[in-house]
Amino acid sequence: MMLKNEITELLKVEYPIIQAPMAGGVTTSKLVAEVSNSGGLGMIGAGYLTPDQLREQVREIKESTTNPFGVNLFVPNEFKVTENEIKSANQFLNPIRQQLNLHLKDNFELPNFNYVFETFFEQIKVVIEEKVPICSFTFGIPSSEVIAELKQSNIILMGTATTIEEAVENEKVGMDIVVVQGSEAGGHRGSFIDGNQESLVGLMSLIPQVVDNVRIPVVAAGGIMDGRGLMASICLGAKGVQMGTAFLTCVESGAHQAHKDAILNAKEDQTVLTRSFSGKWARGIRNKFILEMQKHEALLPDFPVQNTLTQDIRKTSSAQNNQNFMSLWSGQSPRLAKSQTVESFIKNIVAEVKKINLYI
Ligand SMILES: Cc1cc2nc3c(=O)[nH]c(=O)nc-3n(C[C@H](O)[C@H](O)[C@H](O)COP(=O)(O)O)c2cc1C
Repeated sequence: MMLKNEITELLKVEYPIIQAPMAGGVTTSKLVAEVSNSGGLGMIGAGYLTPDQLREQVREIKESTTNPFGVNLFVPNEFKVTENEIKSANQFLNPIRQQLNLHLKDNFELPNFNYVFETFFEQIKVVIEEKVPICSFTFGIPSSEVIAELKQSNIILMGTATTIEEAVENEKVGMDIVVVQGSEAGGHRGSFIDGNQESLVGLMSLIPQVVDNVRIPVVAAGGIMDGRGLMASICLGAKGVQMGTAFLTCVESGAHQAHKDAILNAKEDQTVLTRSFSGKWARGIRNKFILEMQKHEALLPDFPVQNTLTQDIRKTSSAQNNQNFMSLWSGQSPRLAKSQTVESFIKNIVAEVKKINLYI
């Protein structure tokens, strides 16, 4: 098959198609297992899972597939926050809480930085103990001790990069694969060196420049929805693709129906970058929450503080099927999104690739 390459060999999968890890309930066991059973690589977005929840999900997936699947973790970063910053963020959020009939807040306990780190180490322990074959990271690079420990257990490691410099860093620390995330990508930016405007590089620029500067295989992410996107990425030098939005609207995904519907009805110019939901830049469909918070955006606390502050808002708006205040993460190709099963999605991609290969 023409799609066999270093990535399929390393990951032991049939096709170089990775279902993006999507933390926050999207990557159900059904979705992950179905992707792996269909010849791609299913990934658990475990960023927000407790170690126990992660262990339980890994075990559940093992009951539905004997094929490889992976776990994705958020690398914790130091954050600084003052009580005053939290107070003013709450003041900005209270008018929105009012609209949702939520209790207004004026204080909030400062998050415990040590706890965030301890949870990360516990998650790593679960990955090793449960013999998960693949582990990927976003928001940074874990310590050399963590990397060494995972490598000792023969776990394939994937890092995330949004610039050439970040890709080179990933290679230096021993990542086996680097996922390059173009500016088109839905969800959080994985940037960890410089998260400014200039590091918003489009995938068509990013892939060949990364490929020229690293030796490890490159996986492309951002706006890819079908066989055309896969083949274009391969032409530019990538060895595989990681798709988020396209898998989010699949039947097996755990995304809220209102989120799926928002993507299925969105146009390419409706997504924006915002840090109002979590304190970290992320791409999603513009809604009332984003518009109302826009003027305060620069003053909001960093991830994960802002993410915790908006939890009540996101939870309640989801329960009320209210798209106005939900985080509707989406990449820039929503017009290509379809409601379909994972099996038919992957079959379609492979059929498209075969068709394209007839012409080139
Ligand atoms: C809802 C959603 C959640 C995401 N969560 C994660 C995550 O937990 N970890 C991660 O590495 N990337 C995450 N991403 C980013 C994806 O890995 C990938 O870069 C992105 O989906 C590619 O763009 P696309 O959505 O246009 O395919 C998320 C993306 C979406 C849409």
